[in-house]
Amino acid sequence: MSEARLGGRFAFPGTPWTVRRMGYGAMQLAGPGVWGPPRDPDGAVAVLREVIGAGVNHIDTSDFYGPHVTNQIIRKALHPYPAGLVIVTKLGARRPPDKSWQPAISRKELTAGVHDNLRSLGLDALDIVNYRAMGSVHGPREGSIAEQVAMLADLQREGLIRHIGLSNVTAAQIAEAQAITDIVCVQNHYNLASRHDDTLIDDLARKGIPYVPFFPLGGFTPLQSSTLSKVAGQLRATPMQVALAWLLHRSPNILLIPGTSSVSHLRENLAAAQLALPAEILLMLDGIAAEPGKGH
Ligand SMILES: NC(=O)c1ccc[n+]([C@@H]2O[C@H](COP(=O)([O-])OP(=O)(O)OC[C@H]3O[C@@H](n4cnc5c(N)ncnc54)[C@H](OP(=O)(O)O)[C@@H]3O)[C@@H](O)[C@H]2O)c1
Repeated sequence: MSEARLGGRFAFPGTPWTVRRMGYGAMQLAGPGVWGPPRDPDGAVAVLREVIGAGVNHIDTSDFYGPHVTNQIIRKALHPYPAGLVIVTKLGARRPPDKSWQPAISRKELTAGVHDNLRSLGLDALDIVNYRAMGSVHGPREGSIAEQVAMLADLQREGLIRHIGLSNVTAAQIAEAQAITDIVCVQNHYNLASRHDDTLIDDLARKGIPYVPFFPLGGFTPLQSSTLSKVAGQLRATPMQVALAWLLHRSPNILLIPGTSSVSHLRENLAAAQLALPAEILLMLDGIAAEPGKGH
C-alpha cells in the first residue's frame, strides 16, 4: 500500500526513522483482558502479517501485554523483522498473577523489563522504549518521573535502548524528562471524545515530536456517539473509520496505533486513511467531546 494511502509519514526526531502515520497497536493480540493466551493464536499471527503486508512500519507493544505473549507472537509472526519496521515498547508496569496492573519502576525492574523485551522480541537493542507512568483512571498524575527517565537513559548509554519516549504523562513531566534526555514520542489517551491533550498535541507538533493516541477508538469502551454514527452514514464509512480519519486530520504529528485482533477490522482501519473529511463534517465531529456523557 502506498505511503499516501497510509496517511503520509512523520519522523521520530533525532532518529533515522520516518514511519507511515497509520500504525498498529498490538495489545489486543494478548488475549481477553490483555492476558494470554489469545483465543486464536494463528489469527493473531495473521493480523501481524497483514499489518506488514499492508505497508505499516510502526508497531506498538509491551512485554506486560500477556505478559510476554504479545511480544512472543510478534516475534513468531515477523522475525527476522523487515527493514524499516519500528517497534515501540513500554516499561513501567507489571502484571502479577491476579491480572492487575502494578508499577514496576525500580532500577531492577526497569532493567529486567528491558531484558524481557529483548528476549521476547528477539532483539539486541530496543528501537524506542516509552516510560509509561502509572497515572490513575482519570489520566496522568503529576509527580516527578526524573529518576525513572534517568535510569532509562543509563540503559540507553549501555546500548540496550536506542531512543526514549513517554506515555501517560503531563506536559510538566515531558519537560522534566527532556532536561534529562531527548524524548522522541509521547503516547497518551486521546480520541474524538477525550480531548484533554489538545494543547499538548499542538505544542508537540511545533517541536516536531510525534503524539501517539492510545485508545483511538475508545479502547475497552468503544466510542459511541449519535453524531459519529450520523456522519459515518453520510460518508458511507464506519464510525471507527471516521474516528481514525479525524485523528489523522487533527494534527500532522499524530501517529495512529489502533488495536485489533481481527484482519477485517484491520483492513477497515487502514482504509480510514483515505477518507476525506469536509469542513462541515469536521465541525460536527469537533463538537462530540462537548456532548453530554462525553469528554473529560
Ligand atoms: N500507554 C498506555 O498506557 C496504553 C494503554 C492502552 C493501549 N495502549 C496501546 O494503544 C493501542 C490501541 O489501544 P487499544 O487497542 O486498547 O484501543 P483502541 O484501538 O481504541 O480499540 C481497540 C478495540 O476496538 C475494537 N476495534 C478495532 N477496530 C475495530 C473496527 N474497525 N470495528 C469495530 N471494532 C474495532 C477492537 O476489537 P477487535 O479486536 O475485535 O477488533 C478492540 O476491542 C494498543 O494496542 C496499545 O498498543 C497503550
